[in-house]
Amino acid sequence: SQDKLWGGRFTQPTDKFVEEFTASIDFDKRLYHQDIRGSVAHARMLGRQGIIPQDDVDKIVHGLVNILQQIEAGEFDFSIGLEDIHMNIEARLSQKIGEAGKRLHTGRSRNDQVALDIRLYLRDEIVEVVAYLEMLIDSLLEQAEKNIEVVMPGFTHLQSAQPILFSHHMLAYVEMFKRDKGRMEDCFKRVNVLPLGAGALAGTTFPIDREYVAEQLDFPTVTRNSLDSVSDRDFAIEFISASSILMMHLSRMSEELIIWSTSAFRFVDLSDGFCTGSSIMPQKKNPDVPELVRGKTGRVYGNLMALLTVMKALPLAYNKDMQEDKEPLFDTIDTVKGSLKIFADMIREMRVNAGSMGRAAGQGFSTATDVADYLVRKGLPFRDAHEAVGKAVAYCVENEMELEELSLAEWQLFSPHFSDDIFAAITVQASVNARNVIGGTARSRVEDEIRRCREGK
Ligand code: ARG
Repeated sequence: SQDKLWGGRFTQPTDKFVEEFTASIDFDKRLYHQDIRGSVAHARMLGRQGIIPQDDVDKIVHGLVNILQQIEAGEFDFSIGLEDIHMNIEARLSQKIGEAGKRLHTGRSRNDQVALDIRLYLRDEIVEVVAYLEMLIDSLLEQAEKNIEVVMPGFTHLQSAQPILFSHHMLAYVEMFKRDKGRMEDCFKRVNVLPLGAGALAGTTFPIDREYVAEQLDFPTVTRNSLDSVSDRDFAIEFISASSILMMHLSRMSEELIIWSTSAFRFVDLSDGFCTGSSIMPQKKNPDVPELVRGKTGRVYGNLMALLTVMKALPLAYNKDMQEDKEPLFDTIDTVKGSLKIFADMIREMRVNAGSMGRAAGQGFSTATDVADYLVRKGLPFRDAHEAVGKAVAYCVENEMELEELSLAEWQLFSPHFSDDIFAAITVQASVNARNVIGGTARSRVEDEIRRCREGK
């Protein structure tokens, strides 16, 4: 096994299937850019510290840039025999520039190298996830602004509860996605630490300058324990857990959009581009995009459980088990970015049916709480008011009526406190605007919150 970078102590070649089984190149090749960037910074530091000749540094940097171009042009042959992206690049470098290439790995191990590559990679991806979250928040705010007049039923138990503004409902998701953004930004801080310099596990005997490497790679700080640097993946778990919460939010919104676009609801029309038809039923327009996002939430939860389980009970420091970190991490990144992007576009193009929403808002005795509050204002204790209105609702159910259809004489069957101002008190608009507290659905409050969000608060 002369071609192996670690072949020295071996006399027999690696079993072919073992080679395939242990290789990670098929999925870790996506770290090529980070791997090269890290190697360039490491080589420059080695030269600056006088650990390798400056001449070699120049050759290494030149060779690595060359390899980068080759990979980007699709002209690089990745070899399973060379196991992973780190050894594929290093072996090619030595092939190209000889001796100098073989000095690159001085004072470094693949263990701190891979930890660095993942952190570099995830750092950029978190920035993208945050940008997609901002796009989604923006599209929700746009809908909230455009439809500020629209009233809809608010639900609990999926039963009509109280009328709310559609914009208020959109802003509920804005709040969730703002917190998701906060979680991502928080996670970023813990990803953004340089692990290189930990060596295999204990540090290195060479007089390296970790701070100089950090500076070149834009890391504000370096890790403080070499064992931890190479054996910890909690930053990746943290990203997947923030992603799981984010997907949970997307799945709830998906579910609502699916329900809202049924013919029973007709609250929204998703644009044709985000739906598909049926090969047998001509009337069909299926909400595939929200359904898939709802489904993909399961993948991300699975990835979280997978990585937690890979890391569970692993003794310090590096173990090969940890190579299993990449697929769940990459899959999460792809899934979350894709879901956010498609959602932002779908929300922006969604059409809101003010008529259906408005009609539904007044059904199902949704203003019953307003009637109870009315009686409270007339001096009745809330519990008694609740009881009286409950009876009025039962009367309406019995007679197949809505509360709005009761005459004053009928209202007075349930309490002598009713007078003809009851009719104005229980319109859908009055109900909404009466909820005039910070965070309430009254139009002026919703407008306040849209403004705050637009100001980035
Ligand atoms: N491909 C390996 C991984 O992803 C790189 C680190 C290998 N280190 C080692 N000691 N085998 O984890």
